[in-house]
Amino acid sequence: MKAIAVTRFGDADVMSLQELPDPLLGPDQVLVEVRAAGVNPVDAKVRAGYLRGLMPHHTPLIPGWDVAGVVRAVGTGVQDWRPGDEVLAYARKDHVQFGTYAELVSLPDRLVARKPSTVDFVTAAALPLAGLTALQSLRAVHAGQGDVVLVHAAAGGVGHLQVQIARELGAAQVIGTASPRNHEFVRSLGAEPVAYGDALVDAVAELVGGDGRVDVVIDNAGGLAFDQSLRLVRDRARMTSIVDGQRALENGVINTWARPNAEQVQWLADLVAAGSLHVEVQQTFPLAEAVKAHKLLEGGHVRGKVVLTV
Ligand SMILES: NC(=O)c1ccc[n+]([C@@H]2O[C@H](COP(=O)([O-])OP(=O)(O)OC[C@H]3O[C@@H](n4cnc5c(N)ncnc54)[C@H](OP(=O)(O)O)[C@@H]3O)[C@@H](O)[C@H]2O)c1
Repeated sequence: MKAIAVTRFGDADVMSLQELPDPLLGPDQVLVEVRAAGVNPVDAKVRAGYLRGLMPHHTPLIPGWDVAGVVRAVGTGVQDWRPGDEVLAYARKDHVQFGTYAELVSLPDRLVARKPSTVDFVTAAALPLAGLTALQSLRAVHAGQGDVVLVHAAAGGVGHLQVQIARELGAAQVIGTASPRNHEFVRSLGAEPVAYGDALVDAVAELVGGDGRVDVVIDNAGGLAFDQSLRLVRDRARMTSIVDGQRALENGVINTWARPNAEQVQWLADLVAAGSLHVEVQQTFPLAEAVKAHKLLEGGHVRGKVVLTV
């Protein structure tokens, strides 16, 4: 099969299109023909070698943890899936080697969700990792009915879904940080936009009134946003960071590291099918142009998601 792979870690240019053996199929796995693979910042971190302390890596390494495609074959123990089924998955495994930037990927059947027929492959591939992170981060701080929620980087892959899911969970007011060019987009998702930067604390205080503080903060940006959030949140146990686990730990803030969960992916995909969750895809690239996709994402200003088509 053809796949994007790296044999050494480094910048985007270490990736190349290679001919590699088809993945082998275990008894509890499904073999998926990849139609689209979502691109996430973590793929660039894996490619650069930054995650080698967290999980075992093996080369040649195919990046990619998001997939939408069609089941080609199932392992002998698999009962719920058949060849021809259209699926999506957050395909993170314990070892990093056989990712989704490929024509084929094998993955444990427990990771797989059914792609609704009305949701296209590109949209489906953009959803799992970002959607799970959005949902799990909101749940980690019990975001729900009546809450005032601040979402940093609200125009990004995770943030634009968090805004909508916070609304779905019953938040009374969602405030989303973004650069001014994204304010209309953030408003269309159901949040009140504010510019990030030095004036953020005052701007949020003005929007919420009262004591100028919020119930829940989701930090998708880190750095200054983290410091400002400590001042804005009433209770640190209701603040989570998805980017800075160490600072979260040091400051009594919840760290979120998205975990595979097929039931939650199914819930998200069904929301998309029902028209209740919009997945914004800024740009698609053919598989062979993964280098361009990584360079775009690493620029740090993608609106929504970037997806590879296979
Ligand atoms: N812990 C986990 O499980 C987990 C899961 C997913 C992602 N992450 C991490 O979370 C971060 C966000 O992921 P993502 O997929 O949402 O990234 P992304 O899509 O690349 O985020 C891009 C967005 O960030 C915004 N942005 C850039 N600088 C900002 C700043 N200083 N303050 C506020 N917003 C800013 C941009 O908005 P403008 O263009 O308007 O500036 C852009 O829309 C990444 O570091 C990623 O690795 C962690």
